[in-house]
Amino acid sequence: MNKKEIKKQYFKKIDDYINYNKSYYEKSQPLVDDQYFDKLKKEILLFENKYKFLRSKNSPSKIVGFKPSKNFKKQKHRVPMLSLSNAFSLQDLLNFEKKILNFISKDKDFILSYSAEPKIDGISASLNYKNGEFETGLSRGDGEEGEDITNNLATIKDIPKKILSKDFPEDIDIRGEVFIQNSDFEKLKEKFANPRNAASGSLRQKNPEDTKKIPLKFIAYTFGFEKGLKLKKQSDYLKKLSKWGFKINPLNKTITGVKNLLENYNDVEQQRANLDFDIDGIVYKIDDFELQKRLGNVANAPRWAIAHKFSSNKAISTILDIDIQVGRTGALTPVAKLKPINIGGVIVSNATLHNEDEINRKDIRVGDTAVIERAGDVIPHILSVDIKKRLKNSKKFIFPENCPSCGSKTIKEFNKITKKVDAVRRCSSEGYYCDSISIEKLKHFVSKEAFNIDGFGKKIVENFWKLKLIKFPHDIFKLDYQKIEKLEGWGQLSVQNLKYSISQKKNISLEKLIYSLGIRHIGLENAKLLAKHFISFSKFKNLSKQNDYEEMLNIDGIGETQVNSIKIFFSNESNLKVLNELEKVLVVKKAIQNSDDGLLKNKTFLVTGKLNGISRAEVKSLIEENSGKTVSSVSKKLNYLIIGDKPTKKKIDSAKQLKINVIDQAEFLKMLDKTS
Ligand code: IVH
Repeated sequence: MNKKEIKKQYFKKIDDYINYNKSYYEKSQPLVDDQYFDKLKKEILLFENKYKFLRSKNSPSKIVGFKPSKNFKKQKHRVPMLSLSNAFSLQDLLNFEKKILNFISKDKDFILSYSAEPKIDGISASLNYKNGEFETGLSRGDGEEGEDITNNLATIKDIPKKILSKDFPEDIDIRGEVFIQNSDFEKLKEKFANPRNAASGSLRQKNPEDTKKIPLKFIAYTFGFEKGLKLKKQSDYLKKLSKWGFKINPLNKTITGVKNLLENYNDVEQQRANLDFDIDGIVYKIDDFELQKRLGNVANAPRWAIAHKFSSNKAISTILDIDIQVGRTGALTPVAKLKPINIGGVIVSNATLHNEDEINRKDIRVGDTAVIERAGDVIPHILSVDIKKRLKNSKKFIFPENCPSCGSKTIKEFNKITKKVDAVRRCSSEGYYCDSISIEKLKHFVSKEAFNIDGFGKKIVENFWKLKLIKFPHDIFKLDYQKIEKLEGWGQLSVQNLKYSISQKKNISLEKLIYSLGIRHIGLENAKLLAKHFISFSKFKNLSKQNDYEEMLNIDGIGETQVNSIKIFFSNESNLKVLNELEKVLVVKKAIQNSDDGLLKNKTFLVTGKLNGISRAEVKSLIEENSGKTVSSVSKKLNYLIIGDKPTKKKIDSAKQLKINVIDQAEFLKMLDKTS
């Protein structure tokens, strides 16, 4: 081999090494198994030993042993670790406050107090303390279940191991962020793409000694389960954290009103560049714990908190091409392929163009010079194109009339509610006819909030699809492991791991299964409502036989759009086949009804008119918390009609006709042992 050939081979290996490393740490998707990775590393080191002229800053000889471990024990969080909704503008903040005021039925002059906490961009962790001793530390995982990384967390100096204060709760999960300071990251720059990756990589080391080498920090900001925490406000909790020996963010503030939130936001944004840690926004939390409890959660985010993200970064680049991607629900999304450009430290080569209308409105064309915006972790998008710089021969972009994947006709639906034609064009095929839709459905099926199969990421779905190993969701549970073992990048160990991860997920809750099916308009929250309604998988599946779809309109929160979508889903043969096959391979846990021994057990309610000091949404939460149900119309199924101010006369009349109890607010609250 001559020098040129040696270099070529060496750098090919280095490239692979970088790729595998990146995919593992940045996307948590191993492309190869541990053995293969080790072999590659060894080969590079042997090459360097033999040919002294070889050198690369990305060589494993320069990158200390960060072999990730996948062997942490899983543990359920006693209280789920939620995510936050995002706000990007003043309008978003005003909407956030308005929704809160509506929910608690206060007018716009009511003053809300917030804890405003700069949002550190790191890795969240939950630390359990029993009688003042640090016992277990979990990663967030999917929010429901995390990994036991106690030994690694124990190496972090900021995490107190024993707390002697008398007022420290006897059992509490202290939650916060593990991160790396920018000044410390400077020394590790060669090894990791950014401080967040460095923190996440080192937290997942098999050997805590490797974690210890990285100067990780911890800032506390919330709690999960608690017994013995006698505080009324988040701001008091933060003060106490500091007294107990935890670090808290020095820029935390207590603020009233949106105007002041914005002022603080601008102040902190000014300081952002000079801070020694990365922040990507400010988290606002309603300060009062009682109010937080009243507000509760929607899906997996609290109603009482929001993350106000910092403004985006912009850059100019050229649109090289426009691709059409077909999504899980058949939506055709145009994507601009860009001349790669660095925006705020991230190389961007794709930007979403949203939909056909957006392209037409902004007259975006191939060859155009465009302003690209990247805000937080949202997909970059095109703000505008420079018409003056447009080439003379440029042509208007014509959106395809047929699906680029399966050739079916594409359609724009008419939305009965908004009375407008949808901006999105969709592939008109159903079920698993269109390959692109099928692949996206499979990706959704294995995704974090759905089946969450460890090590079965989007790349693996694509690879297995190409190799015809999977076509339908149930194929995942009948994989040909012998064939997989022979594939490049796979070995006995990784196949065993995959087999184990898949078998672990054969037990699934009904709500997760319904969500995983990827039915249009059925997200997490709706899947939960449907699961609660149907209780068992067989009852849900029988929908197709009974053909009584309208019955679902009685589920509060499920409307015509959802019912229609479910109807379409069940009218497709391949979807029915998937349900039958899944039934054979899965054990679907029955849905648990809200503690069904509450004060309103087996009772149904409907509100008409405006109540005093309590919103419809809160009434609904109260009813459900006490094992009751709300319905959307007066029928024989209704037990109580609650009347407020200016009720609908027709509802009262039909209730009286059906001999339904008509009660007022005070009578309702009495049923709950609460007086108005
Ligand atoms: S509170 C229900 N407070 O943001 C409340 N989160 O998108 C959820 N984060 O996973 C967490 N700083 O990693 C909270 N002061 C802060 C935070 C914070 C950063 C992160 C955390 C969480 C994510 C939510």
